[in-house]
Amino acid sequence: MKTNHPIILAISACLFASPVLLGQTYRDASAPVEDRVSDLISRMTLEEKVWQLNQAGFGNNRNINNIGEKLKHIPAEIGSLIYTDDDVTLRNAMQRKAVEDSRLGIPILFGYDVIHGFRTVYPISLAQACSWNPDLAREASRVAAREASGAGIDWTFSPMIDVARDPRWGRVAEGYGEDPYTNAIFAVGAVKGYQGDNLADEGTVAACLKHYIGYGASEGGRDYSCTDISDQAMWDTYMPPYQAGVKAGAATVMSSFNDINGIPATANRFLLTDVLKQRWNFDGFVVSDWNAVEQLVSQGIAADRAAAAAVALYAGVDMDMGSNAYGEHMVSLVESGIVSMDAIDASVARILALKFRLGLFEHPYTTEIPESQRVLLDSDRTTARRLAEESMVLLKNTDDVLPLRAGTTVALIGPMADNRGHLLGSWPGHGRDEDIVSVVDGLSQRIGNSKVLFSRGCDFEGTDTTLFAEALATAGKADVVVLCLGEKREWSGENASRASMELPGIQKKLLAALNRTGKPIVLVLTNGRPLILTDDEPYCSAIVEMWQPGIEGGNALAALLCGDVAPSGKLAMTFPRHVGQVPIYYNERPRARRDQGFYQDIPTEPLYPFAYGLSYTSFEYSDLGVEKQADGTFRATVRVTNTGSRDAAETVHWFISDPASSISRPARELKYFEKRMIPAGNSAVFVFDIDPVRDLAFVNSHGMPLFEAGAYIVSVNGQSVEINLAKQ
Ligand code: BGC
Repeated sequence: MKTNHPIILAISACLFASPVLLGQTYRDASAPVEDRVSDLISRMTLEEKVWQLNQAGFGNNRNINNIGEKLKHIPAEIGSLIYTDDDVTLRNAMQRKAVEDSRLGIPILFGYDVIHGFRTVYPISLAQACSWNPDLAREASRVAAREASGAGIDWTFSPMIDVARDPRWGRVAEGYGEDPYTNAIFAVGAVKGYQGDNLADEGTVAACLKHYIGYGASEGGRDYSCTDISDQAMWDTYMPPYQAGVKAGAATVMSSFNDINGIPATANRFLLTDVLKQRWNFDGFVVSDWNAVEQLVSQGIAADRAAAAAVALYAGVDMDMGSNAYGEHMVSLVESGIVSMDAIDASVARILALKFRLGLFEHPYTTEIPESQRVLLDSDRTTARRLAEESMVLLKNTDDVLPLRAGTTVALIGPMADNRGHLLGSWPGHGRDEDIVSVVDGLSQRIGNSKVLFSRGCDFEGTDTTLFAEALATAGKADVVVLCLGEKREWSGENASRASMELPGIQKKLLAALNRTGKPIVLVLTNGRPLILTDDEPYCSAIVEMWQPGIEGGNALAALLCGDVAPSGKLAMTFPRHVGQVPIYYNERPRARRDQGFYQDIPTEPLYPFAYGLSYTSFEYSDLGVEKQADGTFRATVRVTNTGSRDAAETVHWFISDPASSISRPARELKYFEKRMIPAGNSAVFVFDIDPVRDLAFVNSHGMPLFEAGAYIVSVNGQSVEINLAKQ
């Protein structure tokens, strides 16, 4: 009997193990991604390709909107999973099944909604926008990516960059407010924070721009409803953040639920393929929103799930999230000639390319390191606290009631005062109650237990006033009342539309009762949308919009109330005076009659406009000027002087107006902002370098940039200066 020599065995084992010698280009890390992709696709069966186009849920799901896992037995060939657990061992076990039990060993892409933090939960995105500090927000995204990838997540469904102007829509909490430019800038920050310089680097995750497109225009603020968006608004309002995010290199885009001119985004070939993939050269892949493929049936665009799958794939949706319509029908759709193999290959190629770029074939498993070394690091908490401090907006401060004087005894009242969970807002990631610093914790730690007299006063809703008496007695013993009111976290976010944006009756009643004590009231609000405060505002000496500030909320608020930091947040979304004013936003197009057409029964102006926010100091703007530069650009400058006695940061917002153009453009458009710390008594010169094509041009209703000669107005804090562009 012939026996093999051990050396020969070893050599042949090496030969067989070498992917290059075996011709397995897809396993060769040094080969270009395109070659690896095409090699792998050439080896795949139709069934294997179709599995790559599917995403299912896996793990303990905390999102009540996404229950009903459709795939009971997850096949080793699945393209992606939404991993709702944070157990690395479980994640690796599932990955091992894919890598070892599937014929081609294609790793799974694990996605998760890391929206404003993974374990270290930051302020909601709407609050982050109010910080006007995209670098800090980017740092928060970097931390979130590191924590998430340490737990086995490769891909986050963030940032959400839907311009939103109807606060009845609960999802306003998830985006960066009403302005396209603001959303664009924060989109870029988030993408860079998540993805770093190279997706293959440790601690990065792939980003996902969502929800493409126009979801923020949901009619009446009702979630999942239709939208009616003019072509002009589509291009000048909803598209810019996506265009910026794609340019920044976002790896994926999610199609939205809504329809655009009757064609749901998930079935919209013009928007997904012609614009996104072809005009903008987006080279990542498109994932549908949860069940959005199947929902094409409810939206009346497909007769059944098979038709929905065909329409969505044709439109350009590469991956079906959740509905398994691709999984169930795509093979027969190809076999019957309704869907071409080329279309399947094109989508599979995009998905595989990301897996290669992430380095998943080389490093499919997540290194298991103890939680204490990878989440909630001290530096992460510091970032969370700074971002919360900078996000909070001081809306009112009569007689300088804030900052609190040293030695003040505070009556800390309200259902939010000792609550932890609601401070996280929607999409709390893997945030835990025990990680959160409540207001009572933060303030007691800052000024001492004996100076904080706590009384809940009432619940978030209902009619029970039995705790009022105790709250009033507590107020009587203190110098000032800090009243913490607001929304439970499930009152905003997905599937959380509300017709009224007022505080619940019981909370308003508590405020009115406390007002009768004559004590100054500092109202602290925790909420995920602009609220209507018209009735409440007169009862308050000061109002702090704290938003849903994340785990460091209590510490950040205490620092602000005590004057350790001066408030520097400004609103990224208008606060209406009355729900009847909605939609209301700063950048509407000019009226036909500027002095008529107002509401007869209420003022037409909002209660607090876009970019509004007070400080503990005062700033004076002077010397606004603009100069043409040799290269054809313009340099606008303004001097900002801190005329008060405290160091504080100021954000300067630069707006452009185009008074006579071939279309009626918004009366003012934000084109640049900058935040800087200005010491008391000092001044700083802020500069806006105006590139005429970038900053003065506009898009028409086909998305084509147009640039016209004529006058433009540059305005800043109510002052303005004119630029004249002569005809060339
Ligand atoms: C939401 C998305 C989210 C997805 C996955 C959907 O219902 O609209 O924003 O990323 O679920 O959880």
